[in-house]
Amino acid sequence: MSANTPVRPVLPADILGKKGATPLVCLTAYTTPVARLVDPHCDIVLVGDSLGMVLHGLPSTLGVTMEMMILHGKAVMRGISKSMPVIDMPFGSYEESPAQAFRNASRLMAETGMPAVKLEGGQHMAETIAFLTARGVPVMAHIGLTPQSVNTLGGYKVVGRDDEAARVMADAKAVEAAGAFSVVLEKTPEGLSSRITEALRIPTIGIGAGVQCDGQILVVDDMLGLFTDFRPKFVKRYGNLGEAADAAIGAYAAEVRAGAFPAPEHSFADVLTKGPKP
Ligand code: KIV
Repeated sequence: MSANTPVRPVLPADILGKKGATPLVCLTAYTTPVARLVDPHCDIVLVGDSLGMVLHGLPSTLGVTMEMMILHGKAVMRGISKSMPVIDMPFGSYEESPAQAFRNASRLMAETGMPAVKLEGGQHMAETIAFLTARGVPVMAHIGLTPQSVNTLGGYKVVGRDDEAARVMADAKAVEAAGAFSVVLEKTPEGLSSRITEALRIPTIGIGAGVQCDGQILVVDDMLGLFTDFRPKFVKRYGNLGEAADAAIGAYAAEVRAGAFPAPEHSFADVLTKGPKP
């Protein structure tokens, strides 16, 4: 393949076809440079509404707006060439009715170029998922811990232990029957995640849901050590970029205060005589 051969983007059907094969690799991205970094490694790149907390310093995802998602969705699309991008529907943009969900999902897709959306909820969102998929909107579902419901769930707890397991299994089956092309399982116990993964035809993407899922997703700033406000148990740090950035910024501050930066090689002479142009 030459460098100029266009790469065919991954589509929902490709993701469905990867059920039971090599685990799907998924990460979030919110900006063009990070999308460029994760794209070559990922099957799916999610513009998650976690951007509200990670980038905008909000206390939860509840304050994220359509405008924020569209802005970051456009930025991420500029950095994607081979993986499948998916964009989160923010709180309040889809729960009211299937028609409201279609209006906002189609706007997200039209304005960003994203080919699929993700929304939170199981059985109670099945009608909406069916409405969207019947009208050309591929939907990734999200069940288990659904952070947009943090106030009714009473915190960011494990969801699906004991009596709750049957309900979460029913949620999984309902979103599959409604036409979702994959489902995120967040903070569900690993035995339950494994049973759901076996029971479904669509891939399960786990976050704090054990190794038996068909794929894994993490918030990229968490796994890089860039977002350190809090750290759920399911986050493994693959880097410490926050510490590296702190050291670099500290070194810059020290050099500026000491008058050591900028050095002559970072400065411009008043008169250009010979030599290369700056
Ligand atoms: O918003 C988000 O980033 C997410 C993933 C962590 C699944 O929903």
